[in-house]
Amino acid sequence: MSDNNFDVIIIGGGPGGYIAAIRAAQLGFNTACVEKRDTLGGTCLNVGCIPSKALLQSSHHYEMAEKEFANHGVDIKGLKLNLKTMMARKDGVVDDLTKGIAFLFKKNKISHFIGSGKITAPGVVEVASGKKTETLSGKNIVIATGSSSSDLPGVDVDEKQIVSSTGALALGAVPKTMVVIGGGVIGLELGSVWRRLGSEVLVVEFLENILPGMDGEVVKQATRTFKKQGVKFKLATKVTGAKAAKSGVTLNIEAASGGKAEELKADVVLVSVGRKPYTNELGLEDVGVQMDKRGFITVDANYQTSVPGIYAIGDVIGGAMLAHKAEEEGIACMEILAGQAGHVNYGAIPGVVYTHPEIAALGKTEETLKEQGINYTVGKFPFSANSRARANADSEGFVKILADADTDRVLGCHIIGPGAGELVQEVVLAMEFEGAAEDVARTCHAHPGTAEAVKEAALAAIGRAIHI
Ligand code: FAD
Ligand code: NAI
Repeated sequence: MSDNNFDVIIIGGGPGGYIAAIRAAQLGFNTACVEKRDTLGGTCLNVGCIPSKALLQSSHHYEMAEKEFANHGVDIKGLKLNLKTMMARKDGVVDDLTKGIAFLFKKNKISHFIGSGKITAPGVVEVASGKKTETLSGKNIVIATGSSSSDLPGVDVDEKQIVSSTGALALGAVPKTMVVIGGGVIGLELGSVWRRLGSEVLVVEFLENILPGMDGEVVKQATRTFKKQGVKFKLATKVTGAKAAKSGVTLNIEAASGGKAEELKADVVLVSVGRKPYTNELGLEDVGVQMDKRGFITVDANYQTSVPGIYAIGDVIGGAMLAHKAEEEGIACMEILAGQAGHVNYGAIPGVVYTHPEIAALGKTEETLKEQGINYTVGKFPFSANSRARANADSEGFVKILADADTDRVLGCHIIGPGAGELVQEVVLAMEFEGAAEDVARTCHAHPGTAEAVKEAALAAIGRAIHI
Protein backbone atom coordinates (compact mmCIF):
# COMPACT_ATOMS: atom_id res chain seq x y z
CA MET A 1 0.00 0.00 0.00
CA SER A 2 1.45 3.38 -0.97
CA ASP A 3 1.75 6.09 1.64
CA ASN A 4 -0.99 8.13 -0.02
CA ASN A 5 -3.61 5.39 -0.14
CA PHE A 6 -6.29 5.65 2.57
CA ASP A 7 -9.54 4.10 3.73
CA VAL A 8 -10.94 7.55 4.55
CA ILE A 9 -9.84 11.00 3.39
CA ILE A 10 -11.49 13.87 5.24
CA ILE A 11 -11.34 17.34 3.73
CA GLY A 12 -11.57 19.97 6.48
CA GLY A 13 -10.12 19.83 9.99
CA GLY A 14 -12.93 21.61 11.90
CA PRO A 15 -15.05 20.02 14.64
CA GLY A 16 -16.83 17.90 12.02
CA GLY A 17 -13.66 16.79 10.21
CA TYR A 18 -11.20 16.35 13.05
CA ILE A 19 -13.63 14.43 15.25
CA ALA A 20 -14.56 12.23 12.26
CA ALA A 21 -10.84 11.59 11.69
CA ILE A 22 -10.28 10.52 15.29
CA ARG A 23 -13.36 8.26 15.29
CA ALA A 24 -12.30 6.78 11.93
CA ALA A 25 -8.85 5.97 13.33
CA GLN A 26 -10.43 4.43 16.45
CA LEU A 27 -12.52 2.22 14.15
CA GLY A 28 -9.36 0.97 12.44
CA PHE A 29 -9.53 3.01 9.22
CA ASN A 30 -6.29 4.28 7.68
CA THR A 31 -7.23 7.97 7.82
CA ALA A 32 -6.06 11.23 6.28
CA CYS A 33 -7.28 14.74 7.02
CA VAL A 34 -6.62 17.60 4.61
CA GLU A 35 -6.83 21.10 6.07
CA LYS A 36 -5.82 24.26 4.31
CA ARG A 37 -5.23 26.28 7.48
CA ASP A 38 -1.88 25.74 9.16
CA THR A 39 -3.71 24.77 12.34
CA LEU A 40 -6.48 22.24 12.98
CA GLY A 41 -9.83 23.01 14.64
CA GLY A 42 -11.58 24.83 11.79
CA THR A 43 -13.74 27.89 12.21
CA CYS A 44 -14.70 26.85 15.73
CA LEU A 45 -11.26 26.80 17.30
CA ASN A 46 -9.49 29.37 15.15
CA VAL A 47 -12.03 32.14 14.57
CA GLY A 48 -15.32 31.01 16.14
CA CYS A 49 -16.52 29.29 19.30
CA ILE A 50 -13.27 29.39 21.25
CA PRO A 51 -11.86 32.90 20.67
CA SER A 52 -15.36 34.36 21.08
CA LYS A 53 -15.85 32.53 24.39
CA ALA A 54 -12.40 33.64 25.58
CA LEU A 55 -13.29 37.29 24.90
CA LEU A 56 -16.78 36.85 26.39
CA GLN A 57 -15.21 35.55 29.61
CA SER A 58 -12.57 38.31 29.80
CA SER A 59 -15.01 41.10 29.00
CA HIS A 60 -17.47 39.67 31.55
CA HIS A 61 -14.76 39.85 34.24
CA TYR A 62 -14.07 43.46 33.25
CA GLU A 63 -17.74 44.41 33.45
CA MET A 64 -18.17 42.63 36.79
CA ALA A 65 -15.15 44.44 38.20
CA GLU A 66 -16.44 47.74 36.85
CA LYS A 67 -20.11 47.45 37.84
CA GLU A 68 -20.76 44.58 40.26
CA PHE A 69 -17.81 43.94 42.56
CA ALA A 70 -18.60 46.98 44.77
CA ASN A 71 -22.00 45.42 45.61
CA HIS A 72 -20.12 42.42 47.00
CA GLY A 73 -17.92 44.69 49.12
CA VAL A 74 -14.97 44.38 46.78
CA ASP A 75 -13.73 47.90 46.06
CA ILE A 76 -11.28 48.41 43.24
CA LYS A 77 -9.43 51.62 42.45
CA GLY A 78 -7.74 52.35 39.16
CA LEU A 79 -9.46 49.61 37.13
CA LYS A 80 -8.04 49.67 33.61
CA LEU A 81 -8.63 47.68 30.46
CA ASN A 82 -5.56 46.11 28.88
CA LEU A 83 -6.95 45.05 25.50
CA LYS A 84 -3.57 43.81 24.28
CA THR A 85 -3.31 41.34 27.16
CA MET A 86 -6.94 40.29 26.69
CA MET A 87 -6.33 39.56 22.99
CA ALA A 88 -3.04 37.79 23.72
CA ARG A 89 -4.77 35.53 26.27
CA LYS A 90 -7.44 34.70 23.69
CA ASP A 91 -4.75 33.90 21.08
CA GLY A 92 -2.96 31.72 23.64
CA VAL A 93 -6.11 29.70 24.33
CA VAL A 94 -6.61 29.14 20.59
CA ASP A 95 -2.96 28.21 20.12
CA ASP A 96 -2.99 25.64 22.96
CA LEU A 97 -6.21 24.01 21.81
CA THR A 98 -5.26 23.75 18.13
CA LYS A 99 -1.93 22.19 19.17
CA GLY A 100 -3.92 19.77 21.30
CA ILE A 101 -5.69 18.49 18.19
CA ALA A 102 -2.40 18.10 16.34
CA PHE A 103 -1.26 15.96 19.30
CA LEU A 104 -4.45 13.86 19.09
CA PHE A 105 -3.83 13.34 15.35
CA LYS A 106 -0.34 12.00 16.08
CA LYS A 107 -1.64 9.82 18.90
CA ASN A 108 -4.28 8.30 16.60
CA LYS A 109 -1.84 7.99 13.66
CA ILE A 110 -3.93 10.22 11.39
CA SER A 111 -2.06 11.56 8.35
CA HIS A 112 -2.41 15.33 8.36
CA PHE A 113 -1.97 17.13 5.03
CA ILE A 114 -1.77 20.92 5.06
CA GLY A 115 -3.16 22.30 1.81
CA SER A 116 -6.32 22.87 -0.16
CA GLY A 117 -8.12 19.66 -1.08
CA LYS A 118 -9.86 19.16 -4.42
CA ILE A 119 -11.77 16.07 -5.49
CA THR A 120 -10.61 15.31 -9.02
CA ALA A 121 -12.51 11.99 -9.32
CA PRO A 122 -14.37 9.71 -6.91
CA GLY A 123 -11.67 8.31 -4.63
CA VAL A 124 -9.06 10.90 -5.60
CA VAL A 125 -8.12 14.08 -3.73
CA GLU A 126 -5.47 16.52 -4.89
CA VAL A 127 -3.84 18.56 -2.15
CA ALA A 128 -2.38 21.87 -3.28
CA SER A 129 0.05 23.74 -1.05
CA GLY A 130 1.80 26.66 -2.72
CA LYS A 131 3.28 25.25 -5.93
CA LYS A 132 3.30 21.69 -4.60
CA THR A 133 0.52 19.22 -5.42
CA GLU A 134 0.09 15.79 -3.90
CA THR A 135 -2.44 13.15 -4.95
CA LEU A 136 -4.20 11.01 -2.35
CA SER A 137 -6.44 8.08 -3.08
CA GLY A 138 -9.09 6.81 -0.72
CA LYS A 139 -11.99 4.37 -0.64
CA ASN A 140 -14.14 7.06 1.00
CA ILE A 141 -13.98 10.84 0.95
CA VAL A 142 -15.70 13.02 3.56
CA ILE A 143 -16.31 16.69 2.83
CA ALA A 144 -16.24 18.72 6.05
CA THR A 145 -15.31 22.12 4.69
CA GLY A 146 -17.71 24.12 6.89
CA SER A 147 -18.96 27.61 6.22
CA SER A 148 -17.98 31.25 5.87
CA SER A 149 -19.74 34.56 6.72
CA SER A 150 -22.57 35.56 4.41
CA ASP A 151 -22.07 38.79 2.48
CA LEU A 152 -24.44 41.71 2.46
CA PRO A 153 -24.75 43.49 -0.90
CA GLY A 154 -23.42 47.05 -0.71
CA VAL A 155 -21.47 46.38 2.50
CA ASP A 156 -17.88 45.38 1.72
CA VAL A 157 -16.02 43.76 4.58
CA ASP A 158 -12.46 45.14 4.98
CA GLU A 159 -11.92 43.46 8.41
CA LYS A 160 -10.86 46.82 9.85
CA GLN A 161 -13.82 49.19 9.88
CA ILE A 162 -16.41 46.88 8.35
CA VAL A 163 -15.74 43.51 9.92
CA SER A 164 -17.04 39.96 9.92
CA SER A 165 -16.84 37.95 13.14
CA THR A 166 -13.17 37.25 12.34
CA GLY A 167 -12.29 40.96 12.38
CA ALA A 168 -14.49 41.59 15.42
CA LEU A 169 -12.42 39.03 17.36
CA ALA A 170 -9.23 40.96 16.72
CA LEU A 171 -9.94 44.71 16.90
CA GLY A 172 -6.90 46.66 18.07
CA ALA A 173 -8.88 49.28 20.00
CA VAL A 174 -12.33 49.62 21.53
CA PRO A 175 -14.51 51.44 18.99
CA LYS A 176 -16.51 54.31 20.43
CA THR A 177 -19.51 53.25 18.40
CA MET A 178 -20.36 49.92 16.77
CA VAL A 179 -23.26 49.00 14.53
CA VAL A 180 -24.03 45.30 14.41
CA ILE A 181 -25.95 44.19 11.32
CA GLY A 182 -27.99 41.13 12.32
CA GLY A 183 -29.39 40.37 15.78
CA GLY A 184 -28.50 36.68 15.71
CA VAL A 185 -26.02 34.69 17.75
CA ILE A 186 -22.79 36.30 16.51
CA GLY A 187 -24.19 39.84 16.65
CA LEU A 188 -25.35 39.44 20.25
CA GLU A 189 -22.24 37.62 21.51
CA LEU A 190 -19.66 39.89 19.89
CA GLY A 191 -21.86 42.96 20.39
CA SER A 192 -21.83 42.07 24.12
CA VAL A 193 -18.03 41.80 24.17
CA TRP A 194 -17.49 45.28 22.75
CA ARG A 195 -20.34 46.88 24.75
CA ARG A 196 -18.79 45.54 27.96
CA LEU A 197 -15.44 46.99 26.94
CA GLY A 198 -16.98 50.42 26.35
CA SER A 199 -18.52 50.64 22.86
CA GLU A 200 -21.96 52.09 22.25
CA VAL A 201 -23.62 49.22 20.38
CA LEU A 202 -26.60 49.46 18.04
CA VAL A 203 -28.02 46.27 16.53
CA VAL A 204 -29.87 46.61 13.22
CA GLU A 205 -32.09 43.58 12.62
CA PHE A 206 -34.12 42.89 9.48
CA LEU A 207 -36.88 40.98 11.26
CA GLU A 208 -39.31 42.26 13.94
CA ASN A 209 -37.35 40.42 16.63
CA ILE A 210 -33.81 39.34 17.44
CA LEU A 211 -32.82 35.65 17.71
CA PRO A 212 -35.22 34.30 15.08
CA GLY A 213 -36.48 30.79 15.74
CA MET A 214 -36.05 30.99 19.51
CA ASP A 215 -38.93 30.68 21.98
CA GLY A 216 -40.96 33.92 22.00
CA GLU A 217 -40.88 34.46 25.78
CA VAL A 218 -37.12 34.00 25.83
CA VAL A 219 -36.70 36.49 22.98
CA LYS A 220 -38.84 39.03 24.86
CA GLN A 221 -36.81 38.63 28.05
CA ALA A 222 -33.51 38.71 26.14
CA THR A 223 -34.45 41.92 24.34
CA ARG A 224 -35.42 43.54 27.64
CA THR A 225 -32.20 42.42 29.32
CA PHE A 226 -29.89 43.51 26.48
CA LYS A 227 -31.62 46.92 26.38
CA LYS A 228 -31.10 47.28 30.13
CA GLN A 229 -27.43 46.49 29.57
CA GLY A 230 -27.26 49.40 27.12
CA VAL A 231 -27.55 47.74 23.71
CA LYS A 232 -29.77 49.71 21.34
CA PHE A 233 -31.92 48.00 18.71
CA LYS A 234 -33.36 49.02 15.38
CA LEU A 235 -35.71 46.19 14.47
CA ALA A 236 -37.51 45.58 11.16
CA THR A 237 -34.79 47.62 9.50
CA LYS A 238 -32.51 46.83 6.59
CA VAL A 239 -29.07 48.13 5.69
CA THR A 240 -28.84 49.02 2.03
CA GLY A 241 -25.23 50.12 1.88
CA ALA A 242 -22.15 51.16 3.85
CA LYS A 243 -19.12 53.32 3.06
CA ALA A 244 -15.94 53.35 5.09
CA ALA A 245 -13.93 56.58 5.34
CA LYS A 246 -11.26 57.92 7.69
CA SER A 247 -13.95 59.53 9.83
CA GLY A 248 -15.88 56.25 10.22
CA VAL A 249 -18.49 54.21 8.41
CA THR A 250 -21.70 55.68 7.02
CA LEU A 251 -24.57 53.22 6.72
CA ASN A 252 -27.77 53.61 4.73
CA ILE A 253 -30.78 52.06 6.37
CA GLU A 254 -34.50 51.93 5.75
CA ALA A 255 -37.53 50.06 7.09
CA ALA A 256 -37.44 46.37 6.10
CA SER A 257 -40.74 46.89 4.27
CA GLY A 258 -39.23 49.87 2.38
CA GLY A 259 -39.59 53.57 3.08
CA LYS A 260 -37.54 56.68 3.79
CA ALA A 261 -33.79 56.15 3.73
CA GLU A 262 -31.76 57.22 6.78
CA GLU A 263 -28.07 57.44 7.57
CA LEU A 264 -26.19 56.00 10.53
CA LYS A 265 -22.58 56.57 11.55
CA ALA A 266 -20.30 54.15 13.37
CA ASP A 267 -16.60 53.63 13.99
CA VAL A 268 -16.91 49.90 13.33
CA VAL A 269 -19.63 47.86 11.64
CA LEU A 270 -20.00 44.13 12.30
CA VAL A 271 -21.72 42.17 9.55
CA SER A 272 -23.33 39.08 11.12
CA VAL A 273 -26.21 38.10 8.87
CA GLY A 274 -25.63 34.35 8.81
CA ARG A 275 -23.15 31.91 7.30
CA LYS A 276 -23.01 30.13 3.96
CA PRO A 277 -21.60 26.71 2.98
CA TYR A 278 -17.94 26.72 1.94
CA THR A 279 -17.38 24.60 -1.15
CA ASN A 280 -14.93 26.78 -3.10
CA GLU A 281 -12.07 24.96 -4.83
CA LEU A 282 -13.48 21.49 -4.10
CA GLY A 283 -14.34 20.66 -7.71
CA LEU A 284 -17.81 19.41 -6.76
CA GLU A 285 -19.55 20.32 -10.02
CA ASP A 286 -16.98 18.40 -12.10
CA VAL A 287 -17.34 15.31 -10.00
CA GLY A 288 -21.16 15.56 -9.88
CA VAL A 289 -21.80 16.21 -6.17
CA GLN A 290 -25.23 17.81 -5.89
CA MET A 291 -25.93 20.94 -3.87
CA ASP A 292 -29.21 22.69 -3.06
CA LYS A 293 -30.20 26.20 -4.18
CA ARG A 294 -28.30 27.78 -1.29
CA GLY A 295 -25.13 25.80 -2.01
CA PHE A 296 -25.45 23.25 0.83
CA ILE A 297 -24.34 19.75 -0.17
CA THR A 298 -27.29 17.34 -0.18
CA VAL A 299 -26.82 14.00 1.57
CA ASP A 300 -28.90 10.90 2.32
CA ALA A 301 -29.55 9.44 5.78
CA ASN A 302 -26.02 7.95 5.74
CA TYR A 303 -24.39 11.32 4.91
CA GLN A 304 -23.60 10.06 1.40
CA THR A 305 -23.74 12.67 -1.35
CA SER A 306 -25.12 12.05 -4.84
CA VAL A 307 -21.76 10.41 -5.66
CA PRO A 308 -21.17 6.98 -4.06
CA GLY A 309 -18.14 7.00 -1.76
CA ILE A 310 -18.28 10.76 -1.20
CA TYR A 311 -19.85 11.84 2.10
CA ALA A 312 -20.46 15.27 3.70
CA ILE A 313 -21.00 16.44 7.28
CA GLY A 314 -21.17 19.62 9.38
CA ASP A 315 -21.97 23.20 8.36
CA VAL A 316 -21.53 22.38 4.66
CA ILE A 317 -24.70 20.22 4.69
CA GLY A 318 -26.81 22.85 6.51
CA GLY A 319 -29.19 22.46 9.43
CA ALA A 320 -28.05 23.90 12.76
CA MET A 321 -24.62 25.42 12.08
CA LEU A 322 -23.15 24.34 15.38
CA ALA A 323 -19.87 22.69 16.31
CA HIS A 324 -21.46 19.90 18.36
CA LYS A 325 -23.90 19.07 15.53
CA ALA A 326 -20.92 18.78 13.14
CA GLU A 327 -19.13 16.54 15.68
CA GLU A 328 -22.11 14.19 16.08
CA GLU A 329 -22.43 13.90 12.30
CA GLY A 330 -18.71 13.14 11.96
CA ILE A 331 -18.99 10.30 14.45
CA ALA A 332 -22.24 8.92 13.01
CA CYS A 333 -20.85 9.02 9.46
CA MET A 334 -17.72 7.05 10.43
CA GLU A 335 -19.70 4.50 12.43
CA ILE A 336 -22.05 3.97 9.49
CA LEU A 337 -19.00 3.45 7.24
CA ALA A 338 -17.79 0.83 9.70
CA GLY A 339 -21.13 -0.97 9.48
CA GLN A 340 -22.35 0.28 12.84
CA ALA A 341 -25.62 2.08 13.66
CA GLY A 342 -24.38 5.69 13.69
CA HIS A 343 -27.19 8.10 14.45
CA VAL A 344 -27.82 11.77 15.26
CA ASN A 345 -30.94 12.78 17.18
CA TYR A 346 -31.67 16.12 15.51
CA GLY A 347 -34.56 16.73 17.92
CA ALA A 348 -32.21 16.97 20.89
CA ILE A 349 -29.43 19.31 19.79
CA PRO A 350 -29.05 22.23 22.21
CA GLY A 351 -28.22 25.74 20.99
CA VAL A 352 -26.60 28.20 23.37
CA VAL A 353 -26.01 31.94 23.09
CA TYR A 354 -23.11 32.79 25.40
CA THR A 355 -24.21 36.27 26.38
CA HIS A 356 -24.84 37.16 30.01
CA PRO A 357 -27.28 35.84 30.96
CA GLU A 358 -26.81 32.84 28.68
CA ILE A 359 -29.64 31.61 26.51
CA ALA A 360 -30.24 27.92 25.80
CA ALA A 361 -32.72 26.43 23.35
CA LEU A 362 -33.62 22.77 23.04
CA GLY A 363 -36.31 20.92 21.13
CA LYS A 364 -39.58 22.52 20.20
CA THR A 365 -40.58 26.09 21.06
CA GLU A 366 -44.04 26.93 22.31
CA GLU A 367 -44.75 28.59 18.95
CA THR A 368 -43.87 25.38 17.05
CA LEU A 369 -46.03 23.25 19.34
CA LYS A 370 -48.97 25.57 18.68
CA GLU A 371 -48.35 25.51 14.93
CA GLN A 372 -48.17 21.71 14.96
CA GLY A 373 -51.34 21.40 17.06
CA ILE A 374 -49.58 19.41 19.81
CA ASN A 375 -51.19 19.53 23.27
CA TYR A 376 -48.55 20.56 25.75
CA THR A 377 -47.98 21.65 29.34
CA VAL A 378 -45.62 24.47 30.33
CA GLY A 379 -43.54 24.59 33.50
CA LYS A 380 -41.76 27.87 34.20
CA PHE A 381 -39.52 28.84 37.07
CA PRO A 382 -37.79 32.21 37.57
CA PHE A 383 -34.20 32.42 38.79
CA SER A 384 -35.37 35.19 41.16
CA ALA A 385 -36.89 32.35 43.26
CA ASN A 386 -33.70 30.24 43.17
CA SER A 387 -31.53 30.60 46.27
CA ARG A 388 -28.17 30.04 44.59
CA ALA A 389 -28.91 32.59 41.86
CA ARG A 390 -29.90 35.08 44.58
CA ALA A 391 -26.76 34.36 46.61
CA ASN A 392 -24.73 34.91 43.44
CA ALA A 393 -26.59 38.18 42.61
CA ASP A 394 -27.27 36.63 39.20
CA SER A 395 -30.99 35.96 39.18
CA GLU A 396 -32.32 37.34 35.91
CA GLY A 397 -34.29 34.97 33.67
CA PHE A 398 -36.16 31.70 33.88
CA VAL A 399 -36.33 28.03 32.93
CA LYS A 400 -39.19 26.87 30.76
CA ILE A 401 -39.95 23.21 30.15
CA LEU A 402 -42.50 22.05 27.60
CA ALA A 403 -43.98 18.56 27.91
CA ASP A 404 -46.57 16.52 26.05
CA ALA A 405 -49.94 17.03 27.78
CA ASP A 406 -50.88 13.36 27.39
CA THR A 407 -47.60 11.49 27.98
CA ASP A 408 -45.60 14.12 29.95
CA ARG A 409 -42.66 13.44 27.59
CA VAL A 410 -40.29 16.45 27.49
CA LEU A 411 -40.60 18.21 24.13
CA GLY A 412 -38.49 21.30 24.70
CA CYS A 413 -36.57 23.41 27.18
CA HIS A 414 -35.73 27.09 26.92
CA ILE A 415 -33.59 28.85 29.47
CA ILE A 416 -32.38 32.40 29.86
CA GLY A 417 -30.29 32.75 32.96
CA PRO A 418 -26.97 32.11 34.68
CA GLY A 419 -25.12 29.15 33.15
CA ALA A 420 -28.08 28.25 30.92
CA GLY A 421 -25.75 26.39 28.55
CA GLU A 422 -24.73 23.92 31.26
CA LEU A 423 -28.18 23.70 32.87
CA VAL A 424 -29.91 22.65 29.66
CA GLN A 425 -27.70 19.59 29.38
CA GLU A 426 -29.66 17.47 31.88
CA VAL A 427 -32.78 18.09 29.83
CA VAL A 428 -30.92 17.04 26.65
CA LEU A 429 -30.18 13.75 28.40
CA ALA A 430 -33.80 13.44 29.55
CA MET A 431 -34.92 13.95 25.94
CA GLU A 432 -32.39 11.38 24.65
CA PHE A 433 -33.93 8.86 27.05
CA GLU A 434 -37.43 10.02 26.01
CA GLY A 435 -37.93 11.07 29.62
CA ALA A 436 -40.92 12.81 31.14
CA ALA A 437 -41.03 16.12 33.01
CA GLU A 438 -41.78 14.04 36.11
CA ASP A 439 -38.48 12.13 35.63
CA VAL A 440 -36.56 15.42 35.83
CA ALA A 441 -38.77 16.60 38.70
CA ARG A 442 -38.14 13.44 40.76
CA THR A 443 -34.35 13.58 40.25
CA CYS A 444 -32.44 14.82 43.31
CA HIS A 445 -30.64 18.13 42.61
CA ALA A 446 -27.90 19.47 44.90
CA HIS A 447 -28.82 22.46 47.03
CA PRO A 448 -28.17 25.29 46.65
CA GLY A 449 -27.74 25.11 42.89
CA THR A 450 -29.09 26.92 39.85
CA ALA A 451 -29.97 23.45 38.48
CA GLU A 452 -32.74 23.39 41.10
CA ALA A 453 -34.52 25.89 38.83
CA VAL A 454 -34.64 23.15 36.16
CA LYS A 455 -36.13 20.70 38.67
CA GLU A 456 -38.67 23.35 39.74
CA ALA A 457 -39.65 24.08 36.12
CA ALA A 458 -40.17 20.32 35.61
CA LEU A 459 -42.24 20.23 38.81
CA ALA A 460 -44.22 23.22 37.51
CA ALA A 461 -44.94 21.30 34.29
CA ILE A 462 -46.74 18.67 36.40
CA GLY A 463 -48.39 21.31 38.59
CA ARG A 464 -46.27 20.77 41.69
CA ALA A 465 -43.62 23.54 41.93
CA ILE A 466 -42.51 24.09 45.54
CA HIS A 467 -40.94 27.56 45.54
CA ILE A 468 -43.52 29.50 43.50
P1 FAD B 1 -15.49 24.41 10.03
O1 FAD B 1 -15.23 24.54 11.48
O2 FAD B 1 -15.80 25.64 9.27
O3 FAD B 1 -14.20 23.70 9.44
C1 FAD B 1 -14.02 23.53 8.07
C2 FAD B 1 -12.54 23.52 7.78
O4 FAD B 1 -12.35 23.11 6.43
C3 FAD B 1 -11.88 24.88 7.89
O5 FAD B 1 -10.79 24.82 8.79
C4 FAD B 1 -11.41 25.21 6.48
O6 FAD B 1 -10.15 25.89 6.45
C5 FAD B 1 -11.27 23.82 5.89
N1 FAD B 1 -11.41 23.79 4.44
C6 FAD B 1 -12.37 24.36 3.66
N2 FAD B 1 -12.19 24.05 2.37
C7 FAD B 1 -11.09 23.27 2.32
C8 FAD B 1 -10.39 22.63 1.27
N3 FAD B 1 -10.81 22.71 -0.01
N4 FAD B 1 -9.28 21.93 1.57
C9 FAD B 1 -8.84 21.82 2.85
N5 FAD B 1 -9.47 22.40 3.88
C10 FAD B 1 -10.58 23.11 3.62
N6 FAD B 1 -20.81 26.83 17.26
C11 FAD B 1 -21.10 26.30 18.47
O7 FAD B 1 -21.58 25.18 18.55
N7 FAD B 1 -20.84 26.99 19.62
C12 FAD B 1 -20.30 28.23 19.59
O8 FAD B 1 -20.09 28.85 20.65
C13 FAD B 1 -20.01 28.82 18.34
N8 FAD B 1 -19.47 30.05 18.26
C14 FAD B 1 -19.16 30.57 17.04
C15 FAD B 1 -18.64 31.86 16.98
C16 FAD B 1 -18.31 32.42 15.77
C17 FAD B 1 -17.73 33.80 15.72
C18 FAD B 1 -18.51 31.67 14.57
C19 FAD B 1 -18.12 32.25 13.24
C20 FAD B 1 -19.06 30.40 14.61
C21 FAD B 1 -19.39 29.85 15.85
N9 FAD B 1 -19.96 28.58 15.94
C22 FAD B 1 -20.27 28.07 17.18
C23 FAD B 1 -20.25 27.77 14.75
C24 FAD B 1 -19.14 26.71 14.56
O9 FAD B 1 -17.89 27.36 14.45
C25 FAD B 1 -19.41 25.87 13.33
O10 FAD B 1 -20.71 25.34 13.39
C26 FAD B 1 -18.41 24.72 13.23
O11 FAD B 1 -17.11 25.21 13.20
C27 FAD B 1 -18.69 23.88 12.00
O12 FAD B 1 -17.78 22.85 11.93
P2 FAD B 1 -17.35 22.21 10.53
O13 FAD B 1 -16.32 21.18 10.88
O14 FAD B 1 -18.53 21.81 9.78
O15 FAD B 1 -16.67 23.40 9.72
P1 NAI C 1 -27.79 34.06 12.63
O1 NAI C 1 -28.52 33.30 11.62
O2 NAI C 1 -27.76 33.59 14.04
O3 NAI C 1 -28.34 35.56 12.70
C1 NAI C 1 -28.36 36.39 11.59
C2 NAI C 1 -29.34 37.50 11.87
O4 NAI C 1 -29.18 38.47 10.87
C3 NAI C 1 -30.79 37.06 11.87
O5 NAI C 1 -31.43 37.58 13.00
C4 NAI C 1 -31.32 37.63 10.57
O6 NAI C 1 -32.69 37.94 10.62
C5 NAI C 1 -30.48 38.88 10.45
N1 NAI C 1 -30.33 39.40 9.09
C6 NAI C 1 -30.20 38.70 7.94
N2 NAI C 1 -30.06 39.54 6.90
C7 NAI C 1 -30.10 40.80 7.42
C8 NAI C 1 -30.01 42.10 6.86
N3 NAI C 1 -29.83 42.26 5.56
N4 NAI C 1 -30.07 43.16 7.68
C9 NAI C 1 -30.23 42.99 9.02
N5 NAI C 1 -30.35 41.79 9.59
C10 NAI C 1 -30.26 40.70 8.82
O7 NAI C 1 -26.32 34.22 12.04
P2 NAI C 1 -24.97 34.71 12.71
O8 NAI C 1 -25.22 35.44 13.96
O9 NAI C 1 -24.22 35.36 11.62
O10 NAI C 1 -24.28 33.34 13.07
C11 NAI C 1 -23.98 32.39 12.04
C12 NAI C 1 -24.01 31.00 12.56
O11 NAI C 1 -22.95 30.77 13.46
C13 NAI C 1 -25.30 30.68 13.25
O12 NAI C 1 -25.95 29.70 12.47
C14 NAI C 1 -24.93 30.10 14.56
O13 NAI C 1 -25.49 28.83 14.71
C15 NAI C 1 -23.40 29.98 14.53
N6 NAI C 1 -22.91 30.53 15.78
C16 NAI C 1 -23.19 29.86 16.94
C17 NAI C 1 -22.82 30.37 18.15
C18 NAI C 1 -23.19 29.63 19.37
O14 NAI C 1 -23.61 28.49 19.26
N7 NAI C 1 -23.04 30.23 20.55
C19 NAI C 1 -22.09 31.62 18.26
C20 NAI C 1 -21.88 32.27 17.00
C21 NAI C 1 -22.28 31.71 15.82
